[in-house]
Order: sequence, then C-alpha cells, then structure tokens
Amino acid sequence: MRRVVYNWKGGVGKSTIACNLAAIATQEGKRVLLVDLDPQGNSTHYLLGRPGKEISPNGFDCFNDWLRFTSRVGGPRACIHPSPFPGLDVLPSHPELEELQAKLEMRYKMFKLRELLLSLSEYDEIFLDTPPAWNFYTRSALIASERCLIPFDCDAFSRQALYTLLQQVREISSDHNPQLEVDGIVANQFQPRARLPRQLLEEMLAEELPVLETKLSSSIKIRESHQHCKPLVFMDPQHKMTLEFRNLYHELQSN
Ligand SMILES: Nc1ncnc2c1ncn2[C@@H]1O[C@H](COP(=O)(O)OP(=O)(O)OP(=O)(O)O)[C@@H](O)[C@H]1O
Ligand SMILES: [Mg+2]
Repeated sequence: MRRVVYNWKGGVGKSTIACNLAAIATQEGKRVLLVDLDPQGNSTHYLLGRPGKEISPNGFDCFNDWLRFTSRVGGPRACIHPSPFPGLDVLPSHPELEELQAKLEMRYKMFKLRELLLSLSEYDEIFLDTPPAWNFYTRSALIASERCLIPFDCDAFSRQALYTLLQQVREISSDHNPQLEVDGIVANQFQPRARLPRQLLEEMLAEELPVLETKLSSSIKIRESHQHCKPLVFMDPQHKMTLEFRNLYHELQSN
C-alpha cells in the first residue's frame, strides 16, 4: 500500500504521523519505506538520525537524475537508506529539493515518483511525507499513492482549509490517479475535555466528512521521541500514544 500523509497546512503532524505509522508497520512484520518529499527533511532526521544534507545519495539526486536522463548515483534504489530500525528504509529528503521544483514542474516529471514506487515491489507499505504546500512534490505524491491520510489539528481555520484540500485530492484522483482514495481525517493533538475540538469534529461528522475514529492525543513524549530520533513504538511501546498510533494503523488497514 502506498499512502501519502498530506495537509498543506504546516505543523499539523504529517511527519510525526507518517514516521510513527511506518514504525508500527514494521512491528506488524511489514517491510516499509518512508519517502520524505519535504525539503525541511524532518522525517529524514527523525528516522535516520541526521539531516538529509549529510546523507548521500538522497532524494535530490534521485529527482535530479530524472532531469538529466542519467544515473550518476547508480539509480533511484541507491538513494534508499536503511534506518536503524529493522524493516524500515528511507528515501531521504535534501534542502535543495526546494530549488529543483521549478525545473521538475517545467519538464513534466510529476509521474516519475509513481513509476519508481511501482517498481519497488519489495516493500509491503510505503509512506510518503509531504511538505506543507500544494506544489510539485505533493502533487507527485498524490499521483503516486493509493491512499491519502489527512492530519487535522482541530483548529477552526484548518477546518476551512480541509474543503480545498479534499477538492485537491479529488482533482488529482479524477485527472491523474483514479486509484487514489481518502483514508480519512485524523484529529491530532486532540483534547477530549476541551469543548471546541469536540464540537468541530461533531460538526465535521454531521457534514459527513471522513473523520476517523482514532484520535491522537497531545504528549510531550512526541518531542522526546523526535529529539532521540526514535519513533514512539521503539522508545516507549506501552505509551498511550503508541497505542493510539497502533489503533490508527489498524483502523487504516480495515478501511
Ligand atoms: N500528538 C502530538 N503531541 C505533541 N506534539 C506534537 C504532536 N504531533 C505533533 N507534535 C509537534 O508539533 C510539531 C509539528 O509536528 P510535525 O513536524 O509532525 O508536523 P508537520 O505537519 O509535519 O509540519 P510541517 O508542515 O512543518 O512539515 C512538532 O514540534 C511536533 O513535535
Ligand atoms: Mg513535516
């Protein structure tokens, strides 16, 4: 399964959720790849323990080769690196992906990522982390995926952004990728005792927006987990949020 975690709003938990679901998947015996398409490279750092600019070859080399019709780095597979966590590999990001974007867009390279991911049949699950933008990388990721998971930070402005976002997914699905389906919207940093987030979710459900059953709480452990470059399931397997990530993983499997 190829699954993109997407929301063009920043800081809603895309990288955290993509990496932790990828880690949970390995615990379920799956061979997993995390593709980091965000030039910020937060997922790369989280899973490989160092920034993308220190890792070579990386996603930049991979996309750049597609522009040059050459393979300077031994093909895209050479750009994939094993993480310290068994069964979990990473196609790392690099800050220069930002500048490469315009060229990739101009030369219609939007389908190359899909082509690559389809050829990587050794992976049971591929998670794609995306930048907080509607750009070449997010469009490529939506074209390359079968499912789209949307993190939502229970904020009123973010709720308005959801309508545009769902429209974007629909557009990609109808123009380029009929296989693409929305997994659902997952509430992150959800505070069950606060009135506003509860009310927002109730209204969204009343509108028949695809809000998932599983909610992710807020915990300082997430920051610790980032700091130690260790997904929660490896840092604290019994933590409440580890269980929530596991529930989310299973809810997505049963969808
Ligand atoms: N459930 C949570 N509990 C506590 N902190 C969280 C939680 N989820 C995310 N965070 C924190 O919120 C910040 C943003 O998270 P994250 O980087 O995963 O979001 P993002 O959507 O990938 O951001 P960007 O759009 O910049 O890529 C991080 O500092 C992270 O530690
Ligand atoms: Mg991110």
